[in-house]
Amino acid sequence: MNPRTPEPLDPFIMLIDSHAHLEMSDYDADRDAVIKRALDQGIEKIITIGIGMKECEQALALARAYPFIYAALGLHPHNAKRDSSRLFDFIKERAGNEKVVALGEMGLDFYKNWSPQQDQIRCFHEQLSLARELKLPVIIHDRDAHAETVAILKEEQARDIGGVIHCFSGDYRMASECIDMGFYISIPGTVTFKNAATLHEMVKKLPLERLLIETDAPFLTPHPFRGKRNEPAYVRYVADKIAEIKKLPLEEVARATTENAINLFRLS
Ligand code: NI
Repeated sequence: MNPRTPEPLDPFIMLIDSHAHLEMSDYDADRDAVIKRALDQGIEKIITIGIGMKECEQALALARAYPFIYAALGLHPHNAKRDSSRLFDFIKERAGNEKVVALGEMGLDFYKNWSPQQDQIRCFHEQLSLARELKLPVIIHDRDAHAETVAILKEEQARDIGGVIHCFSGDYRMASECIDMGFYISIPGTVTFKNAATLHEMVKKLPLERLLIETDAPFLTPHPFRGKRNEPAYVRYVADKIAEIKKLPLEEVARATTENAINLFRLS
């Protein structure tokens, strides 16, 4: 058996990978095969996430090519020092396309600080107001900037915009604050790691009605594929782990997280 292929899901269980980067060059050699594996594994829909101009164009092209792939367009905090005006014009022009379902990923990364924090903060504000104008939900990236992220979301009254904190790494209090603002919390593959005690505790306490699942592929590969390239098919390991932690049938986790993603991104 191919080590990349997990056990097949029950054919009636369908999942949505709410955050992948299928346009990244990591998939240039075998993108079609990766997408086919996801479909074969019951991954019903995939949101592929732009992080800059080139990636947004490619994400939208993929969304147009595959009926079950949707695109989010945005400027990642890593790229906040780049000129954003061309990208923001592109986003405005494409926002009406039915395959564009969110703005992002956007936010703050004070761990790597690949762009100056002032640029990250400015770009975050700009994209939140763009999302408000374009009436699209947002996908938030937050690494080592929990307090700042929540403060900006409150300041921009993000409650009216709606969205998801992707690859959630904050504490329960932050999760509750975001849920109070109407946001969803997205659980990544790291939940399958033995040493992810905080995340396990969080999954136990958070209501299933506010959870999404994601791979963040090609990054954050879940157990038992840790160390290899990630791909959307592996989102089922996230669902499995949530079911185990919450002591629920996988079917229930699949149904709820799929419904949550459909509602947030208004997927058909
Ligand atoms: Ni991402």
